[in-house]
Amino acid sequence: MIHFAPIPLNLKDRRILMRVDFNVPLKQGKVESDFRLLRTLPSIQQVSRKGGRIILMSHLEIDDRYYSLRGVGQFLKSKLKGFRFSSTVTGQKVKRMIDGMEPGDVLLLEDLRLEPGEKSNSPAFAKELALLGDLYINEAFSVSHRRHTSIVGIPEYLPSFAGSLFRKEVKILSRAFKPPRPFLFILGGNKFATKAPFLEKFLKKADTVVIGGAMIAPILLDRTSRIGRTSSKILMPRDVVVLRGKHKKTIPIEALEQSDLIYDLGPKSIARIVSLAKKSRFILWNGPLGYLEGGFIHGTLSLARALGSVSAEVIVGGGDTASFLDQQKLLDKFSFVSTAGGAMLDFLVEETLPGIEVLEK
Ligand code: 3PG
Repeated sequence: MIHFAPIPLNLKDRRILMRVDFNVPLKQGKVESDFRLLRTLPSIQQVSRKGGRIILMSHLEIDDRYYSLRGVGQFLKSKLKGFRFSSTVTGQKVKRMIDGMEPGDVLLLEDLRLEPGEKSNSPAFAKELALLGDLYINEAFSVSHRRHTSIVGIPEYLPSFAGSLFRKEVKILSRAFKPPRPFLFILGGNKFATKAPFLEKFLKKADTVVIGGAMIAPILLDRTSRIGRTSSKILMPRDVVVLRGKHKKTIPIEALEQSDLIYDLGPKSIARIVSLAKKSRFILWNGPLGYLEGGFIHGTLSLARALGSVSAEVIVGGGDTASFLDQQKLLDKFSFVSTAGGAMLDFLVEETLPGIEVLEK
């Protein structure tokens, strides 16, 4: 059982360093999906109402590039009173901004990952950040699989607590430790390197594992791997969508050529997953089935609509999946949509996370 200490009741005028996950899709610098932001907003408002001075810390990394959080700041400005954005993470300017904050004010720091000390979990950077606050709240469950300074470093120097959204994620996702059966696990998305190590572990936990998205090609090609050899539980696609010249083509899996790139699952594959979903009692879905940014949404959308009306408990995770469901107005069709992607997988397999362990100490 995971147990967290309660957040102190008296937060008046205290400087609260809050790690949040504002790693959200942007379009021309503007927030494209506000799902994660809206999920985090109530925690920020709660602390603000208690008179805390809140210093928000996040990262924004898309395809290995770091982006400014200024666009997220624009969004928050319209939702929070006394909000300001700091274009730097540490230094005199930030200190002055914090000194000038009134109780209830909120300050968002620039992308933490622009500082080399964040990913390397540097003690010097942790101390520097810790000096900005009186206590630390982790409201970024979705990043808590990372041993980064803002997740595991700061708690070494400040009284540290789990935020309310963080606690909710832990409570609900813990239900999947002993899932009702049959348990169907659907794994898509594009972070193959992050997700692949979990596949074997999920093959032990789930009754059937469906592979979609960018996960398919490496597994198809890697027939001789351990994953390939233990693949009786893996439901591979029957048909996929490829581009031939400029034309989308749905082809059976046997017709795939070495040079083909897979952009989506075809209708036969989706029908098979849906029929299995109808017989399942517990479904975990993480990651889109196709290349959504390129407009290959058909497989993911058909699956989302079908899963929204099955009788099984359906838990969905993954930043891109959640954003997609948000855009399609399907979020409320599911038992629970987690704000986490990789962290959710890690948590379900390990039953803890580095960011949880430091808060339990
Ligand atoms: C996510 O989008 O899953 C989290 O923000 C973690 O992002 P990361 O994989 O870049 O650490």
